[in-house]
Amino acid sequence: MMLWCTLTYLLPLFSTVAASPVGRELDVDCSPDSSSGLKPECWAALEMDKYITDWMAANGTAAGCDTLGFAQCYLQFNGLTTLTCDRITSSTCPPPSSRFTYSSNQHFYALWNIYAVYQFFTQYSQALSNGASLAGQTVDKIVATVAPPIEAQQPASSLMNILGSTLGVASLFTGAIPGDAGTILGLIQTGLSQALLAKKNLPETLVKPSQTADDRFIQLGDIGSSLANLVKDYQNNLLETVASIQRDHTLFTAACGQGGFSQRVTASLTIQSAQLYRQLQLFILSSALKANGIVSAKSTGVDALQFATQTDEISCTALSPGGFCNQWWLDGEGNTYSFHNPGDTRNTHIELTKTIVQEEWATLDQVFQIEDCAGKEPEFDAASLGVRCIATHGFCEWNYQPTYAETRREPQFKNCPNDPKWGYLCSSWENRLLVPESYLGPLLIEGRFGFERQDT
Ligand SMILES: *[C@@H]1O[C@H](CO)[C@@H](O)[C@H](O)[C@H]1NC(C)=O
Repeated sequence: MMLWCTLTYLLPLFSTVAASPVGRELDVDCSPDSSSGLKPECWAALEMDKYITDWMAANGTAAGCDTLGFAQCYLQFNGLTTLTCDRITSSTCPPPSSRFTYSSNQHFYALWNIYAVYQFFTQYSQALSNGASLAGQTVDKIVATVAPPIEAQQPASSLMNILGSTLGVASLFTGAIPGDAGTILGLIQTGLSQALLAKKNLPETLVKPSQTADDRFIQLGDIGSSLANLVKDYQNNLLETVASIQRDHTLFTAACGQGGFSQRVTASLTIQSAQLYRQLQLFILSSALKANGIVSAKSTGVDALQFATQTDEISCTALSPGGFCNQWWLDGEGNTYSFHNPGDTRNTHIELTKTIVQEEWATLDQVFQIEDCAGKEPEFDAASLGVRCIATHGFCEWNYQPTYAETRREPQFKNCPNDPKWGYLCSSWENRLLVPESYLGPLLIEGRFGFERQDT
């Protein structure tokens, strides 16, 4: 009897609601002092979209939302006049207080989400600053290793697109919660992507090149040292982006609609700079390869491990971590890739391949499997908060022929021009061909065709 009375008394305050945003029925306590804490399910359970739309319709004018924007007008109308939550700053937007009296659970969750959006962008921006110097050093190392021509450069706009992809990384690290069957629900990522897709010029705002920069192009050798400044430009874009989201209640509800901000947003503190800037590393690596004319050469249907058992011309007895032996990377589907430089066919690029893996600049699938991106420019994709085509250096597929005569007659590659020296004879008195180090064709098999590798 006593228990029953307690429950009746508590019900209006601690209303228990049924929600199913993750696919099954849950009873969720969405009160400010819920013992189970904040819950992503509460956004839907409390019908927050409707609450905010109704609130804007009823109170928006009186609250001065036209001039203040949603977040600030909501805060001020609720007496929180000293807070600023639509910027990226260090301490102008504390978390909602437990001592505050909330008129409803919706009231609490609206305030919490305003805070959490602020908190996410502030921490993300901080993580970018923290990692910039180390990332700059890594970029310098990549450029020094691949040694592109000094004048090789990249448009600042491409670099901004690449920096934009850090939003996807940060949002997955922060807002991901375990789902059913080991899946990860990227609630913040999906929410932010919905917001960016909801307003046409918002993605452009995020990745636009600096208006004040004199240089529309940056030399590869200068990117490491100017990274801190590039990141500052990007952080200004970030500031505009978060302001747009906080000030426009439809963008705000889109960003928060998945429930990603209806939880404690603190995981981003653990974002490692290496993870945040990984895509930048791959981009710089690919740009440097491209500037040197180095392409990814694919030997379709040739498995280097198996092939090496038939000839002494190549060596591949076991794979190192990263899936390669010497210059060969195996894709696990029976194909082998290797770097190839049409102007320097004697170079094996073994050291480069090894260094990429050891230094964790990129994974080899990222530098070799670039069929769909060769020759394109990186493009920010609001739907995934990532970048389409980070690695865009050349890609050539070998066009192997079974005989000496056909090899000389047919094109060297299926999709690229012949190397300048393709088809040269080893000497004028014998029927032996020079083949580049990336060649993994049937003519290497001893005694059958009378071919000779270039390095012998
Ligand atoms: C408008 O504001 C008042 C005062 O805070 C509040 O009681 C009321 O619920 C709000 N209206 C709507 C539709 O949210």
